[in-house]
Amino acid sequence: MAFQNGLAEPSGPVAIIHPDIDFDVLTLSKALIIQPFFPSKVNWENKGFSCEVVLPSKRYDLSIVCCTRSRQQTTDLIVQAAAQADLVVVDGQKVDGIDAHYKLLRKLVKVDGNITKGHGRLFWFSSKDLSALRSTPKKFDQFTTTPGVFSAGNIDPGSELLAASLPEGLKGDIADLGAGWGYLSSKILTHDLVSSLDLIEADATALECAKLNINDPRANFHWDDATSWAGSYDSVIMNPPFHTGRLGNPDLGRAFITNAARNLRPKGDLWMVANRHLPYEQVLNQCFESVVEIPGDSRFKLFQSSRPKRK
Ligand SMILES: C[S@@+](CC[C@H](N)C(=O)[O-])C[C@H]1O[C@@H](n2cnc3c(N)ncnc32)[C@H](O)[C@@H]1O
Repeated sequence: MAFQNGLAEPSGPVAIIHPDIDFDVLTLSKALIIQPFFPSKVNWENKGFSCEVVLPSKRYDLSIVCCTRSRQQTTDLIVQAAAQADLVVVDGQKVDGIDAHYKLLRKLVKVDGNITKGHGRLFWFSSKDLSALRSTPKKFDQFTTTPGVFSAGNIDPGSELLAASLPEGLKGDIADLGAGWGYLSSKILTHDLVSSLDLIEADATALECAKLNINDPRANFHWDDATSWAGSYDSVIMNPPFHTGRLGNPDLGRAFITNAARNLRPKGDLWMVANRHLPYEQVLNQCFESVVEIPGDSRFKLFQSSRPKRK
């Protein structure tokens, strides 16, 4: 619709920033995809696109910013796109705050085109220095986070509860599946008998924060998909995700549990926390000989699952 309503078709480089996997690229088949979420990046590569985690510093004819669920992260992406592209398109849904971005940007730039359809909006404007809108990383306690990562600016109460419930004598080779910006991992590393810790995280932005937050030679950082990661551990410790985008998705947590069992040595333990309403007991019992619920609180349940079943 935008191309039919005055948006010039680009003849040079195009970047599409944070598109979902079903984003319709139309004729922009040579576009560079900027996608820090590992499974989405793999999907785009399988469709034949080149992908980068962050926008490489060069000029683009057109950059399309797809709204993320974090307002400040989207603003940061718009700032970067506006500094490097002749034309910037911002595309998003009302639930992701597109109207707020439109309202703000209309005061700062000349919007050349604006289309609304269903619950979405798309607008475009020409290159502009918007650097005054850029965020600075948030520091609290000894931690740093950036907008858009899970639990930005806060310690997740579920991870905090799990960290406090780990046994004193925790030892050996450990994995944190879905390690985020590293809170749980930082607590795992306070146990002196831990010999190595693999942090596996799909969001490259969160993993970059984890690298800032953890300075310990036992830690290894992996940008990867925890549902297919292959390792060998004495314990897996995790606070698995239960959303894909905005939608609740307990299958994702179940896939984490199944893969945790595959990654554990025969005498290994899975330590995990989950929101009380999430139905993980069945898959835990399918994957482990012993599943014990340890004391949690009104919001979170904790499990120690031992002896992975070999199928
Ligand atoms: C509930 S958060 C836990 C964060 C962290 N462990 C903490 O200390 O609070 C779950 C994390 O899993 C990540 N994640 C989601 N899907 C993933 C996948 N397929 N592979 C690896 N990580 C994933 C999310 O980006 C998020 O950082």
